[in-house]
Amino acid sequence: MDAASPLDYLSAPAADFVRRPHANLIGADWLPAISGETLDVIDPGTGEIVGHIPASSAADIDAAVTAARAALESGPWSRMTGQDRARLMWKLASLLGDTAEELAQIESLDTGRALYECQIVDIPGSVNMLEYMAGWATKINGETIPLGAPGDFHGYTTREPVGVVGIIVPWNYPLELAVWRMAPALAAGCTVILKPAEQTSLSTLRLGELVLQAGFPPGVINIVTGTGESAGAALAAHDGVDAISFTGSTETGKAVLHAAAGNLKRVFLELGGKSPQIVLADADLHSTIPGVAGAIFFSSGQVCTAGSRLFVDKRIFDRVVEGVAAYGNALTIGHGLKPGTQMGPLVSGTQLDRVLGYLEGGRRGGAHVESGGARIGNAGYFVQPTVVTGTTPDMAIYREEVFGPVLCAVPFDGDDINAAITAANDSIYGLHASIWTRSLRHAHDLARRIKSGNVCINTHNFFDPAFPMGGYKQSGWGRASGFAAIEHYTELKGIVARL
Ligand code: NAI
Ligand code: MG
Repeated sequence: MDAASPLDYLSAPAADFVRRPHANLIGADWLPAISGETLDVIDPGTGEIVGHIPASSAADIDAAVTAARAALESGPWSRMTGQDRARLMWKLASLLGDTAEELAQIESLDTGRALYECQIVDIPGSVNMLEYMAGWATKINGETIPLGAPGDFHGYTTREPVGVVGIIVPWNYPLELAVWRMAPALAAGCTVILKPAEQTSLSTLRLGELVLQAGFPPGVINIVTGTGESAGAALAAHDGVDAISFTGSTETGKAVLHAAAGNLKRVFLELGGKSPQIVLADADLHSTIPGVAGAIFFSSGQVCTAGSRLFVDKRIFDRVVEGVAAYGNALTIGHGLKPGTQMGPLVSGTQLDRVLGYLEGGRRGGAHVESGGARIGNAGYFVQPTVVTGTTPDMAIYREEVFGPVLCAVPFDGDDINAAITAANDSIYGLHASIWTRSLRHAHDLARRIKSGNVCINTHNFFDPAFPMGGYKQSGWGRASGFAAIEHYTELKGIVARL
């Protein structure tokens, strides 16, 4: 059954939320941008405007920083124990769980991504991270350090919250990335200002309502929407912000780093990728082909860890390429909210043009499109799942982060695995990688030699709140999960007493 309008697929609470006027959360207040300006909220499945959000600027960021600073230094949050913070985080996790279906629908509408993805990844992933990081809130210990200095001294350490944290997230997984970045900061006792991406701010505004409902004191979590050039840049440069967590493109990450230099705020970066998948001749193709295909086509390839470069032993190259192409051709593509949709559109017209531009450049350079390669229809921003062969290492489609359902497949000589590793490592990025093989020896040998923050064996896109996630090289600084994330949001203080 087709709905008259995709919005008809929304449940009553989700439709009610989308249609409501939207505002920034600053302290305990919902406020329009001080300028009064707004940005359109667009449904990527139709290209139609479905709402408006504040187009905030430096003045709004300023107000949010003031609220966050007050909450950090003098509000109830500043006196709370780790146990108290953990309770609030558990409460928020439970409210997210109660609101899961509504949030998934809002996320699917705003990002364009298939509803099932939001149901199985975004919402449970957010709940899990809050629960996991709530556990750390009571376990951020210092140490007693035996000292070698002459005399009689007693030395110990404490970990204090780094302070006010600015969080900038991209449009692909807005709610989940916001929660993943926020949770360790909250566990550590920081206060935050979140700037979601201008293309997809709705789910984080709904999160803001749940934050107040959970009982977080005013100013602990502030949410300010707006463009990167305006609100994002103001947050990155603000002298009242002690740390900035940025997730997005490598290019913008570098701009954030420059902006952060003003007050030398601490910088966390989770940036782009061009992640390799290496398939050896002994791989179990029955599970490898759907695994490899899912690694690039999930979320239309708009995943920082997408496996966008495929290196296959030449003896099985044709079989794997045909299998991955067939998997892509069989996907049900449609509006994210439409029942049965397996792959939705890209997030925006800009992203559509960018992806089609890479495809055009590849074709002009002599690459061969094995499957897909074109836009679908002219309403919404749909691109076919695409497999490209015959790329050369100098082509933009092969080197750069395309962020679309586009896989570059390259054969290698199975007698020379070193060549595959050299090719896999020949990238400015190092975020994620996968190795598909039945050989334990090869799997662990390759895992050791691939330069990336995560290496998956016979799987791809693996995330867990307890497991490190982050990049080598230009894929970023720091790790988003586990205790490494807590460390990032704390200052280590050494205290010594002369006895
Ligand atoms: P972007 O990196 O510019 O945007 C990400 C976030 O940064 C958004 O919230 C945006 O408002 C903000 N931002 C933009 N300019 C800023 C600035 N000067 N200062 C502070 N914040 C700023 O990404 P964009 O333009 O939306 O997408 C472009 C390309 O970036 C994509 O095609 C894709 O290749 C890559 N990208 C990578 C992501 C990843 O997780 N690896 C996520 C999103 C985009
Ligand atoms: Mg949108």
